[in-house]
Amino acid sequence: MDKGSLHFETLLIHGGLEPGPAGATNVPIVQSSAFAHETAEELENIFRGRKSGHVYTRLNNPTTESLERRLSLLEGGIAAVATASGMAAITTAVLTILRAGDEILASSSLFGGTYSLFRDTLSNYGISTRFVDPTDTNALSEAVSDQTRLIFVETIGNPKMDVPDIAAISAVARQTGIPLMLDATVTSPYLARGRDLGADIVIHSTSKFINGTGSTIGGAIIDCGTFDWDSPLFPHFAQFTKKYRQFAFSARLRKLMHKDLGACPAPMNSFLLSQGVETLALRMERHCSSALELAHFLRAHPTASWVNYPGLPDSPFHEVATRQFGGKYGGLLTFGLAGKAEAFRFINGLRLARNLANIGDAKTLVIHPASTICCDYSPDQQRLLGVSEEMVRVSVGLEHPADIIADFAKALNSL
Ligand SMILES: Cc1ncc(COP(=O)(O)O)c(C=O)c1O
Repeated sequence: MDKGSLHFETLLIHGGLEPGPAGATNVPIVQSSAFAHETAEELENIFRGRKSGHVYTRLNNPTTESLERRLSLLEGGIAAVATASGMAAITTAVLTILRAGDEILASSSLFGGTYSLFRDTLSNYGISTRFVDPTDTNALSEAVSDQTRLIFVETIGNPKMDVPDIAAISAVARQTGIPLMLDATVTSPYLARGRDLGADIVIHSTSKFINGTGSTIGGAIIDCGTFDWDSPLFPHFAQFTKKYRQFAFSARLRKLMHKDLGACPAPMNSFLLSQGVETLALRMERHCSSALELAHFLRAHPTASWVNYPGLPDSPFHEVATRQFGGKYGGLLTFGLAGKAEAFRFINGLRLARNLANIGDAKTLVIHPASTICCDYSPDQQRLLGVSEEMVRVSVGLEHPADIIADFAKALNSL
């Protein structure tokens, strides 16, 4: 059967899955560091790429490959590499493309870990980043310089909740011959396939909605096969474009950075992620509908000073989000209270929602970003990332929405 022609919901369950031993319907957990071969010739042929086969789990593993095939199908890609975490995916993918002296043109409203990687860590190795408002496509276009080699944006900024026009950014990338890398963690492939949005490479922190139960950290890099690496801007890809053509990025990724950085997932984690992904569509429906309900509730509540959710009709990002994500807006929202003290009292007053640093779990999660995940940033940097002292971030879970709202109402009413 041509799995490419199946509906998204069917691919979630059958995509990438091959018959297991003894008729097993789940992918086997191949918990082995290395793989033995009958002859020295066979192992040489695998190492030299003349024959496919497994060598060592840092390089590839049957359980992880099943997950990679599925994620690639879901994003409309030509290949995928799973990694130990979302940050590992971003680091590995970015270092596959960039060299010292190169520049990233990145959204100014990134997830804090990515912001820190670009601003603090990569700059120490000669890779600089220009941060621009991703919702201002003209400013982004004007910021492209002779050194720019990558454009990096998130589908919905976490936690700023801004929504860039990705088709317009993709057009800038195409005109300038620079690849577009899209972190689609917050939307998941259910709201939109990265390739359809115009991305060349899609990143996921699979720790979030793809896993769906908060049981595993993971990441993924999906190559959409849309970028022509045979370009004078990327001379270091020459040997890969010659041999691997459309697969040049994936080949360079696997043969160099993924192998050298060693941020591979454990087979058990790949198994858990394969289990999680099967229910993605059903879960995302509920995340989206409950988040919209909660956003409307908070909007009407006198104690909440503002609510930021692209599903609200008066959000400045409502139109672009509706166009890009087919009338769904994800499971994340932020809202404001009078100040930090009220935000703390609100969080301490919740009984159902959990106070922790994650998103995309079956459970409703809340956090005060300014004092936790963004506590290392100055007030100016926090403002850039869309973080303020009075802000609470919510990842709306799969509980009955009435129970989530009752929990929030009780905590708000006691302020
Ligand atoms: C949008 C986004 N990208 C990347 C990451 C990093 O993923 P991980 O925590 O799996 O390393 C996160 C984590 O919160 C995220 O929200």
